Amino acid sequence: SRSINLAVIPGDGIGQEVVAEGLKVLSAVLPQDVKLETKEYDFGAKRYHATGETLTDADLDSLKRHDAILLGAIGDPSVPSGVLERGFLLKLRFAFDHHVNLRPSKLLPGVATPLAGQPEIDFVVVREGTEGPYTGNGGTIRKGTAHEVATEVSVNTAFGVERVVRDAFARAQARPRKKLTLVHKNNVLTFAGHLWTNIFNKVAEEYPEVTTDYIHVDAATIYLVTDPGRFDVIVTDNLFGDIITDLAAAVSGGIGVAASGNINPTREFPSMFEPVHGSAPDIAGQGKADPTATVLSVALLLRHLGYDAEADRIDAAVAADLTERAGQPARSTSAIGDALAVRVAG
Ligand code: IPM
Ligand code: MN
Repeated sequence: SRSINLAVIPGDGIGQEVVAEGLKVLSAVLPQDVKLETKEYDFGAKRYHATGETLTDADLDSLKRHDAILLGAIGDPSVPSGVLERGFLLKLRFAFDHHVNLRPSKLLPGVATPLAGQPEIDFVVVREGTEGPYTGNGGTIRKGTAHEVATEVSVNTAFGVERVVRDAFARAQARPRKKLTLVHKNNVLTFAGHLWTNIFNKVAEEYPEVTTDYIHVDAATIYLVTDPGRFDVIVTDNLFGDIITDLAAAVSGGIGVAASGNINPTREFPSMFEPVHGSAPDIAGQGKADPTATVLSVALLLRHLGYDAEADRIDAAVAADLTERAGQPARSTSAIGDALAVRVAG
């Protein structure tokens, strides 16, 4: 019989609340014959304050043994900026080689957007997840002086760029519109930009059915607001992808519905699924957080593990729930989770 062995990391703030609802919906959608095993991990601010640790080698060994990881959010104002970001989230993404950071944006009916009208938005950003300026490759000299110099080197390898570009082409090929846009800044970042552009053009030859396009990242932020319908699949580097996916979330319903997957397509290590939003300490513990982004991340998780029908049921349940939500008074975190669980089961 089938089974899913899931590592659960609720984390800090609203992470606890939204993950509970994600698991509720996951249990409701799985067929009887699929055995769901979960193991909860206590990473985050509390563990850091108690032990000084963020993520140890032993933790990584333990996490490795799961089929996938569901993460709520990590981060708290009591921990200095950068400690949990580098010490937990980025460490995990790098250790498990999560090179495909998948961030879909779809404006569903009934969902408010700050854009004029109700534009068609249905694209997915394939953000490189293990390279670029995120590698921690840099340094400071003459620290604290008026002549301090800080470098933050963007690392781009042919191997790393090619594998994420290939993944993006395969995703574009599988979608009805079959369009792939490379977003970079190759007019200024000429070393990395040319590597990306050359590899993109080379792989494009293997995908004659995919329409390709190149846009500088600054221009891409304009189009995301003025003409988001032009995008189908976007491939871009780690930092550009971080920035444009927050904008993408803002125009397609906000971070309450933005889901993501940190994917290792080789399956050598488990992939990790998380809402794009953070721990939102200002509203934590009040039942105000929208668990929809986590529930949609559970759908990405199921799709990654091959449970396509169950993922489709979650997507449909969310679409129906969002349509019903429009114009109604706000519901609590658990009320939204309950409604989604009923829909996916029925
Ligand atoms: C995200 C976050 C992280 C990132 C931070 C918290 C390290 O902003 O998942 O988008 O920059 O990748
Ligand atoms: Mn971000």
